Amino acid sequence: MKNIEIDKAALIRAAIDNLPNSYAPYSSFNVSAAVLMNSGKIYTGVNVENASYPAGICAERNAISHAIGCGEKRIVAIAIVGGANGEIQDYCPPCGICRQVMREFCDPEEMIVIMAKSPEDYKEMTLEELLPESFGPENL
Ligand code: THU
Repeated sequence: MKNIEIDKAALIRAAIDNLPNSYAPYSSFNVSAAVLMNSGKIYTGVNVENASYPAGICAERNAISHAIGCGEKRIVAIAIVGGANGEIQDYCPPCGICRQVMREFCDPEEMIVIMAKSPEDYKEMTLEELLPESFGPENL
């Protein structure tokens, strides 16, 4: 796979810029994600809640589904921001279901998960660190 340059600040900014589109009237916890695919393109997604609570979806899975639905194949990195009432006060880690969905479309040792407070203040880990000993397509 060709190596894609990761502009982490730009990826984080894409997530921050789209945070106001988060629809979270039930939890009031707004989340936004921006995923960099190996084409070099960035796709965004926000959490979208529902009056039937389990029908809601996380920001990360929305961003990934957006990318895959546009013909993208592999994830290079994802930036995640979020907080109560749209205020980013801490690093926002991805939930377990989102980690598993990321696993489907990446090399866990290469994929970077960026949990950000701002373009300058972030924590990064590989998916392998966040989801060790994972089950993926190669296991079937
Ligand atoms: N949420 C995300 O969007 N991503 C995560 O990884 C964690 C949780 C959303 C789901 C729900 O709309 C709200 O945050 C509170 O759980």
